[in-house]
Amino acid sequence: MKKLVIAIDGPAGAGKSTVARLVAKKLNYTYIDTGAMYRGVAWKVLQANPGSITETFICEMVKDIIIELNYVDGKIQVMVDEKDVTDVIRTPEVTQLVSKVAQIAKVREKMVMLQQLMAQNGGVVMDGRDICTYVLPHADIKLFLTASIEERAMRRWREFKDKGYNIELEKLKEEIAARDKADSEREIAPLIQAEDAKLLNTTNLSIDEAVMEILGLCECEQHVV
Ligand code: DC
Repeated sequence: MKKLVIAIDGPAGAGKSTVARLVAKKLNYTYIDTGAMYRGVAWKVLQANPGSITETFICEMVKDIIIELNYVDGKIQVMVDEKDVTDVIRTPEVTQLVSKVAQIAKVREKMVMLQQLMAQNGGVVMDGRDICTYVLPHADIKLFLTASIEERAMRRWREFKDKGYNIELEKLKEEIAARDKADSEREIAPLIQAEDAKLLNTTNLSIDEAVMEILGLCECEQHVV
């Protein structure tokens, strides 16, 4: 059976990573979280603790960065320059910086090159902001996952709460709206729904329902090819 390439785009908190991870597990495919890669770059920049975070400095940081996504006990492990950064790339500080980092052409060039390499043998589910439009335009299945901003903020609030961070819901909503704006309005590879991507609104969908919908599309595709 052909090993499919599944591409999923959408804004923060739309459920992409949860759904993509479960689809990959079900199909025995590799899940590639491209947001984690941009977060890895932002983390490295913060670690270097520069006086001011300029584009030149970020480009310097990304030049020789080594980013690996490993699978340990069924969980994704994010390594930057051989350090396990799986948890620390989810802090509010990294989240605040990541959109700025992701706007820089040199950063995107490097990440896209790595992502295309990771997908070259198929059998992958990759999620992000520009996967259908730019990284894997020829993917077998293309999806745009979204949900209302209230629902997305609530999901992020729960995630942070589970990790011990107590952040005001309203503040999260503002941050998500700002990130949506930065991601959608940037010049290079902005977040938009690809013309041939199927829209999946998860506001009122359970995780299982969204996963089933995508598996159904995969089954149809397998019958066509
Ligand atoms: O999915 P996430 O929230 O972990 O992504 C973090 C940031 O990375 C997001 O604000 C935009 C950026 N990003 C991107 O520009 N392109 C991608 N393919 C994935 C993420």
